[in-house]
Amino acid sequence: QHEGIEVSLTQDPRPKSPVEDLTFGAEYSDHMLLVNWTKIDGWDTPKIVPYGNLSLSPALSALHYSTECFEGMKAFKGVDGRVRLFRPMENMKRLGRSAVAASLPEFDKEGFLECIKDLVRVDRDWVPQPTETIKHPSLYIRPTFIGTEPFLGVREPHNSLLYCITSPVGPYFKTGTFQPVSLYADPAFIRAWPGGVGESKMGGNYGPTIRIQRIAEAKGYTQVLWLFGENHELTEVGTMNIFVHWINEDGDPEIATPPLSGTILPGVTRLSLLELAATWGSHKVVERTITMDDVRKAVKENRLKEMFGAGTACVVCPVAKIAFLDEHLTIPTMESGAEVAQRCLKELTDIQVCITTVLHF
Ligand code: COI
Repeated sequence: QHEGIEVSLTQDPRPKSPVEDLTFGAEYSDHMLLVNWTKIDGWDTPKIVPYGNLSLSPALSALHYSTECFEGMKAFKGVDGRVRLFRPMENMKRLGRSAVAASLPEFDKEGFLECIKDLVRVDRDWVPQPTETIKHPSLYIRPTFIGTEPFLGVREPHNSLLYCITSPVGPYFKTGTFQPVSLYADPAFIRAWPGGVGESKMGGNYGPTIRIQRIAEAKGYTQVLWLFGENHELTEVGTMNIFVHWINEDGDPEIATPPLSGTILPGVTRLSLLELAATWGSHKVVERTITMDDVRKAVKENRLKEMFGAGTACVVCPVAKIAFLDEHLTIPTMESGAEVAQRCLKELTDIQVCITTVLHF
């Protein structure tokens, strides 16, 4: 535990479900981290307290004007039994950028990360162990930042709360890890616009996608493929970044993902896979615009090998088909052995349990 943090431990630790029974984000560990800020006094002492409800004004800024942002990161039980965090500073930096977009105050990223580490130390028994069936469980860490000032004028909140809860999780999808998904793409639905906040991790980017997700499901598809612009550029899939593995127009094997144009979330998994694949030397690894025409053409010419989503929650998620309005495209990810997607999943999860930042006790 580092200095300058107050810890009050629960008297009433709750039972933990077996990892096989966990639904993503439905159970929480015993403690949470709270740090209050006011415009007058600045940051208060960080506090780790028993997990529980917050008492907040119904007039608070976050509820009315979405002065809110969050992060998603994970702690793993390493092969050596030690607890490890994966590139947590990347999440702190992104939270800082999202906070600017949400008109929330600046915070000390290193300091907040130290507090999160203390929270995970306190709740270390909540970091699940891998089992035969659940290979990559983790303690999902949800830093959250909200404007708490009770004031209905539209302005930057004069009070805010930076907090963090954690949740033991197995696979993001109930169907399990690495189950291929089908995508529904309709250019009528736009996730984010240039000049907007699509690159920020704000709740307001996710809430409005739920209705569209239900439309996709009603049509028999698992996820939404988010397109943008006249050329129907691929941007994201569900809540994930998107990757393709194909033979490009020049005949070279290529792993590609759309560039960060402002409408795409700069995923930590996205960044990690770009960096990882570049070390293989076997493929060109590029950030490039990918249109529905490019995908259609690559499928027709047998150049498209794989497509997959990538994100902290699900890690790597293979794509099997796309419905683009009335058009149906078969994506041969699994048929071609999903070799790149599998390698990404394996190498990333190996790093997560063997190599990344160890949490010392
Ligand atoms: C992720 O893939 O990590 C996400 O952003 C999903 C989260 C919103 C549940």
